[in-house]
Amino acid sequence: VIVPVELGARRYEVLVGDGVRHELAATLAAEVPGAGRAAIVTQAGIGVEVDPGMPAEVFTVPDGEGAKSLPVVEDLCRKFAVFGLSRSDVVVAVGGGVVTDLAGFAAASFHRGTAYVNVATPLLGQVDAAIGGKTGVNLPEGKNLAGAFHQPRLVVADLDTLDTLPLRELAAGMAEVVKYGIIADPALFRSLRTGDVSDLGAIVRRCVEIKAEVVADDERETTGRRATLNFGHTLGHAIENAGGYGKLLHGEAISIGMRAAAHLSHKKVGLSLDAVHEIEATLAAQGLPLHAPDLDRAKIGQALKLDKKGANQWVLAPEIGRTVLTGDVTAGDVEALLDLVSTPPAS
Ligand SMILES: NC(=O)c1ccc[n+]([C@@H]2O[C@H](COP(=O)([O-])OP(=O)(O)OC[C@H]3O[C@@H](n4cnc5c(N)ncnc54)[C@H](O)[C@@H]3O)[C@@H](O)[C@H]2O)c1
Repeated sequence: VIVPVELGARRYEVLVGDGVRHELAATLAAEVPGAGRAAIVTQAGIGVEVDPGMPAEVFTVPDGEGAKSLPVVEDLCRKFAVFGLSRSDVVVAVGGGVVTDLAGFAAASFHRGTAYVNVATPLLGQVDAAIGGKTGVNLPEGKNLAGAFHQPRLVVADLDTLDTLPLRELAAGMAEVVKYGIIADPALFRSLRTGDVSDLGAIVRRCVEIKAEVVADDERETTGRRATLNFGHTLGHAIENAGGYGKLLHGEAISIGMRAAAHLSHKKVGLSLDAVHEIEATLAAQGLPLHAPDLDRAKIGQALKLDKKGANQWVLAPEIGRTVLTGDVTAGDVEALLDLVSTPPAS
């Protein structure tokens, strides 16, 4: 299946299906016709080999959120230079959000903008991180604080690569899937309630369609439409950052953030309590955490202030499938949410 991201001159396609990574060489030749060599950026543990159909060298970056840093970007760019990568060549990112955010930012910076393509290997990458052109790294002060919009020329979501994904990573990806259901697709949301993900192909395809549509509508997050993708992310990012990268996976922190956003939606915009409980039950059915003990409130407060999306912009859902943005969230509201997510829901 091919899902286009309609961005005019920057239009590109997302290939979704079993074995589609084997189409990389042919598609690259068509999408980046001037490229004579490829810099493949990946991690040691991923183990997905690709053939870009041209001379290539593999550059590995360390595993984990901590690798999403400026020193790693510098290291990559210097290695690209030694390899002789020119502005008309191509960077091929093979991995999850850490790899595609890093390689995309390195490509955005190298020669002031070199083409790149993403071969997304975990669920979270396929449904979210690899699509949309947000690239960047973390600073000690907060998540994704340095980055650039730089659209890939092609995204490959080969469902076969999900076979080797650890279950915990699969669940983390399902957090973003649940998010798409909440913000845009009540039928998708309801289908996730049992925790059965045997038709992962259909799930990936639907999420890619939603992301592609939202990005095409609001590429640079200026109208508020793209911001709706951040449901659960305002507090989720702060928890992820304050916990120290490596403790909670991105998707796990987002799960906790979505529980908080659901309760806040009940309080502020009338989301029914039944829907709040459905959200909690669905996240739990997907094996995701709903609380984190020992939250460092001072650090979370600091991280909220530095979140580039603005501490005061929250995505809320008046009902499943619809969102609103609000700035009407007080320090007291945040305190109450932190109380809430310190303990599991009463069953
Ligand atoms: N740019 C965006 O729009 C966007 C959107 C969402 C998330 N993100 C970012 O993405 C990051 C999280 O991404 P992630 O969850 O993909 O994490 P990740 O990149 O750390 O990948 C998860 C883990 O799975 C391993 N892995 C990946 N594919 C595998 C496979 N097929 N088989 C076995 N192991 C495999 C990786 O080596 C890694 O250890 C965060 O930094 C987040 O901020 C970016």
